[in-house]
Amino acid sequence: MRAWLDRLVRLQSTVLLVLKLILLGCGREYGITRRAKIRLFAKMLRSNRNIVTLTTLQQQLVLVTEILSLPEGLRGDVVECGCYDAGSSVGLSLACSLTGRRLFICDSFEGLPEPEEEEVYEIHSDSPQFYVWEENEFVSTDGLAGVQRTLEEFGDIEACRFVKGYYADTLKDLDTDSIVLIFEDADLPSSVRDCIQHLWPKLQTGCKFYCHEPWSIKVVGLFYDTQWWLRRLHTTAPGFFGSGGGLDYGFASSSMGFSKKFDAEATRQSGTKVQHQGSRGFEAT
Ligand SMILES: C[S@@+](CC[C@H](N)C(=O)[O-])C[C@H]1O[C@@H](n2cnc3c(N)ncnc32)[C@H](O)[C@@H]1O
Repeated sequence: MRAWLDRLVRLQSTVLLVLKLILLGCGREYGITRRAKIRLFAKMLRSNRNIVTLTTLQQQLVLVTEILSLPEGLRGDVVECGCYDAGSSVGLSLACSLTGRRLFICDSFEGLPEPEEEEVYEIHSDSPQFYVWEENEFVSTDGLAGVQRTLEEFGDIEACRFVKGYYADTLKDLDTDSIVLIFEDADLPSSVRDCIQHLWPKLQTGCKFYCHEPWSIKVVGLFYDTQWWLRRLHTTAPGFFGSGGGLDYGFASSSMGFSKKFDAEATRQSGTKVQHQGSRGFEAT
């Protein structure tokens, strides 16, 4: 019964996300037609049938819709940290190709680095379950070459730039000065910390750092660690939206959370004041 209900909720959220992608206006600024969006979805379905991926189709749809919704005039690249066998990279590469953006795919292609001592065990939201992270977990089958073959067959390799190595070594020299979306699925808090440290300064105001570990207290905690942010990035911690790990297949969060770069003072001065209207949500006043 539980499995059936799960499947039903998953199907319903997929249908809603597909409708959102195809029927609403995302991509219009780039001249992307509904037909092109249907083709994009068909390619994503095909890749999901053929490649093992830890990023659900719902999560991929959220990311692709977000890329198509970015203002055309906003210059910048998309960065993926943690691709494994490129199942999540396919949709990103197709969306980047349609919008004329570069996709940086950053990974060791040899799996996780050695976890720091205090991050080996990770309590899952379905406690008493827990993870034990291990070095080289999620090694890409056939390494970088395998990832490239997958993108040639299912995605758009022309849009991709590959950055091989551990984030502590590679991300500080990433060949971009403007990032408009980050998708991080790197599991270890220490890896996520490296991504934040090197990528956040290049993330444009109003843009999002999507995080695949909203269920991890240690990872979400990074986004609230003001001392660390002040020391390393000279700004206050930005916080995190959607850390409800329980909303696994929910339409809004699709089990991903994100942090958004914003200018709090500018928002207060020129933004729209909203009030909570109970079950009707927020309304402008
Ligand atoms: C869970 S897998 C990614 C799954 C993929 N997004 C998908 O949907 O199938 C985590 C990936 O992060 C990479 N990774 C984690 N920490 C890293 C680090 N510090 N440097 C480079 N790669 C790292 C691993 O090599 C692995 O490919």
